[in-house]
Amino acid sequence: MTNEILIKIRDLSVTYQTRIGPVSAVDHVSFDIYKGEILGLVGESGCGKSTLGKALLRLIDPPGEISSGKIIFDDEDIMEYDEKQLHDFRGRRVSMIFQDPMTSLNPVQRIDDHLIETIQVHEKQTKKESALNRARDMIKRLGIGADRMISYPHQLSGGMRQRVMTGIGLILNADLIVADEATTSLDVIVEAKLADQLREIREEFKISLLMITHNIALIAEMADRIAVMYAGHMVEIGDIFDVFKKPMHPYTQGLLASIPNIRFNANEELYKMLGEPPNLTRPPKGCRFHPRCPKVMPICSKIEPSFIEVESNRFIHCWLYQEHPEKMADKG
Ligand SMILES: Nc1ncnc2c1ncn2[C@@H]1O[C@H](COP(=O)(O)OP(=O)(O)O)[C@@H](O)[C@H]1O
Ligand SMILES: [Mg+2]
Repeated sequence: MTNEILIKIRDLSVTYQTRIGPVSAVDHVSFDIYKGEILGLVGESGCGKSTLGKALLRLIDPPGEISSGKIIFDDEDIMEYDEKQLHDFRGRRVSMIFQDPMTSLNPVQRIDDHLIETIQVHEKQTKKESALNRARDMIKRLGIGADRMISYPHQLSGGMRQRVMTGIGLILNADLIVADEATTSLDVIVEAKLADQLREIREEFKISLLMITHNIALIAEMADRIAVMYAGHMVEIGDIFDVFKKPMHPYTQGLLASIPNIRFNANEELYKMLGEPPNLTRPPKGCRFHPRCPKVMPICSKIEPSFIEVESNRFIHCWLYQEHPEKMADKG
């Protein structure tokens, strides 16, 4: 991993218009993804992980909408791309692997045709023969027998289907893969194997991986950095070892303390976080975590903290680590 930035996300917000009002699923989120890194994205169900992942490819469909922000890739803001530029960007630069391969693979299309089609849709000049060779190569690399090339999706195991999906994500040599719970539907052994392959592929292809999962143990194994979301806000980002060793945001502290057997703090007592995640149609004012926060201060319910670098490579969205006149006034 280098510290060269691949993609800069600035002030990104996504809102879903629903019958009960707008849902603020991603709220003014800013962060960078480095070249060649595995960035693990975690947080409770419904906190906006999938929405954020899809937003990076501008894959938000109505009733959702990217309501603010920039997504800067190679000095270009993809928010300004037209349909043609976007089509080229998706797949060739950034691609996404979803949880359920059965819904993303075409049931009446053979495995080889999926891969060949992906290449030919994005690279009009590539001949079928050379596309087929690349497809064969990718399948082999992912540990799928060559004889499986002519199978249909339903003839493969769940693990193999997920590897085919991964192959589709990789075959265009994208710079960033967004994997949304890509290993979640697999059993633990197959999941560990796919995770290993992803890690190898990252080395070989020098790609970056945004790995969205609720499996924090997997992130601990694989990721270079961890990003923690809470109720549509990015609350903490840092190097994996640093964050596990010393989580700084009270939500991250609770999240890590509530996981059994995480190797970095195995002897700590299991912790149960109080309360429920908020309803995102009416998120709490100020810091969205304040109603559940064991370290809440008066300012937390009034003003939202900034997301700032409080130590080298550690970004935190919390009043514990920043000053404000209001905070001084509260202290009296
Ligand atoms: N298509 C949609 N329409 C309305 N609300 C949605 C839609 N998709 C997601 N949401 C809402 O956006 C919030 C974030 O969802 P999501 O990104 O799926 O979270 P996660 O992936 O972390 O579980 C949730 O409150 C969810 O209910
Ligand atoms: Mg999700």
